[in-house]
Amino acid sequence: MPTFTPPTIRFGGDYNPDQWPRDVWDDDVRLMNRASVTTVSLPIFSWAKLEPEPGVFNFGWLDDVFATMEAGSIRIDLATATASPPPWMATLFPDTLPVDINGVRLGVGSRQQYSPSSSTFRKLAIRLVRQLADRYGSHPAVESWHISNEYGCHVPMSYDAESVEAFRAWLKNKYATIDALNDAWGTAFWSQAYGDFDQVGAPAAMPTFPNPTQLIDWERFSSDALLGLFLAEKAVIREITPDIPITTNFMGFFRDADYWQWAPHMDYVSDDLYPDPADSDHYIMAAATRDLMRSLGGGRPWILMEQSTSAVNWRPRNAPKPAGMNRAHSLQAVARGADGILYFQWRQAKAGAEKFHASMVPHGGEDTRIFREVTALGSELAAISPNVIGRKVPARVGIVFDWDSWRSLDQEAQPTRIDYVATVLSWYRPLLRRGITVDFVQADGNLSGYDLVIAPVVQVASEAALQGWAQFVAGGGTLLATYQSGILNENLHAYLGGYLGPLRSTMGIRIEEFAPLAAPYDQRHPDPAASTRFPVPGTRIEGQLAGEAGLWQEIVLADDADVVARFADGFAAGQPAVTRRAAGDGGAAWYVATQPSNDLIDSIMARLLDDAGVTTGLFDEPTDQAEAVRRGDMLFVINHADHERDLMVAGQARRLPAYGVEVSALSAGA
Ligand code: GLA
Repeated sequence: MPTFTPPTIRFGGDYNPDQWPRDVWDDDVRLMNRASVTTVSLPIFSWAKLEPEPGVFNFGWLDDVFATMEAGSIRIDLATATASPPPWMATLFPDTLPVDINGVRLGVGSRQQYSPSSSTFRKLAIRLVRQLADRYGSHPAVESWHISNEYGCHVPMSYDAESVEAFRAWLKNKYATIDALNDAWGTAFWSQAYGDFDQVGAPAAMPTFPNPTQLIDWERFSSDALLGLFLAEKAVIREITPDIPITTNFMGFFRDADYWQWAPHMDYVSDDLYPDPADSDHYIMAAATRDLMRSLGGGRPWILMEQSTSAVNWRPRNAPKPAGMNRAHSLQAVARGADGILYFQWRQAKAGAEKFHASMVPHGGEDTRIFREVTALGSELAAISPNVIGRKVPARVGIVFDWDSWRSLDQEAQPTRIDYVATVLSWYRPLLRRGITVDFVQADGNLSGYDLVIAPVVQVASEAALQGWAQFVAGGGTLLATYQSGILNENLHAYLGGYLGPLRSTMGIRIEEFAPLAAPYDQRHPDPAASTRFPVPGTRIEGQLAGEAGLWQEIVLADDADVVARFADGFAAGQPAVTRRAAGDGGAAWYVATQPSNDLIDSIMARLLDDAGVTTGLFDEPTDQAEAVRRGDMLFVINHADHERDLMVAGQARRLPAYGVEVSALSAGA
């Protein structure tokens, strides 16, 4: 497998020269050189121009683009152009179009209008990819492959007949017999037993709650169907250009593609992220997303494939990035393991649905704040590159991130609505505030490298995963699991006898009843500001740890665990809210039966870190609107606040302007 080891931090963006007259291209190269651009991604959305009629290819213009880039010393992240099929495909092969949950076939005129399981689409995509690889695979300007674009962004699943057939084949492969499927899906319930795989369908529109296991298998299948498309393109590319590294751009916390399944197939991980400048907490989700990308790649450097220099165009209100924020976002990504900072897109579109989306070269041209900031950032990245590129980001704390739990918690017929990502971030935040870097880990992943592992609302966990957590504690690790962890196995069947399966004896507790409180919001009508009010206060806990909590109460029986705090009120008044059980050689298993307020999570975290022996964060005191991260021998300190302030890091005061970032050599002992 080729690795991606660029000589300097990559800098650049999506480049769409086919949307511009030829003379603009020369100006593009001049400006790219001015901005220290190393790399452009192309031709992501050019299928209709590359193949204007089926089987008729038109590469002359692209040859010219390649020559222009090469002459300007710009390298190419070669996209396979399969993200948006040309209109002729729908006319000739209407079955390639996706069908939504209500049976509506989606039309032409935007993009991504293909069914992930369409064999015709796949055949035509492969034909184009082979042409591109044959023609440009040995071109000296090419440095990587960019397959398709944001798989599943608009159409993560399709309910067309070919998809249903493919689902049946996937199920046969998984279960072998219809009896095994019936057992796994629990079809004894509501007269759902199937006599044959041919009777099984997609969970399309139906009278009421679909079978939960059918639904999660459909979601797993749909992620696999998209991954199958990626792998089909990859196979052709690998055959023709075995030495050029391959990626596809992920979308951060994206529920419809289980990136733990995808990441092993990437030569390097890449990601697109558009934090909302109007949300003052956006840096928390952004930091976590960077950490997720590094974790998906097993700690290897990754590439920020897309971000915006300023506003996007797809929110109800698209706030611009104030001066400095684009730099702060970029260096945040570098601090957390990125070896490349690229944008959507190079030149702001004149026409089409993205004409109001900011770019590296705005409508106003080069004499603009945005282009000046881009140029300054390009040279800064080149300057810090030798001290940063390829370096590792150390982490001693792991947080379990699990797509199946996310999918299951998002299903209907749950005890309450739980926002999975917001809940995970509520446990990430107190670590970020201390300047402690976190890796995300798979529920059944190897935990041995961590002192502390946190498992927030991992509702779905296999016996093997729960055994792994128990072994982690037995081996001296500190584990914290919250309510709604270890409730269901991978088939979404409940663990009986008090939940938690093989982890129960390690925790020393049983859970007898759930008593949900007011939910932060109804996920069908999400409130974008909800994260700052999470959770809605609903209870208090008291004891060695005391404070406000919300969302959840339950009846916990602490058979063999210390009760650290109890519920002060409500259905579970007087019952354990936080328990701890010492185990193994210095290990500890914590359980938290509610969603603590941010303040309370901070106090819990202090105890946990103490237990785990992780005492030194980079910040002297927990600090909001800021980050301190170590990468290799470099220290990144970021002020996300809109005003100048002093940040106390590793014993030193550092004065940073609004959205300021300081990159410096880490002093000994920090
Ligand atoms: C996604 C796509 C890009 C562009 C941006 C706009 O990331 O990959 O083509 O549409 O969104 O934010």
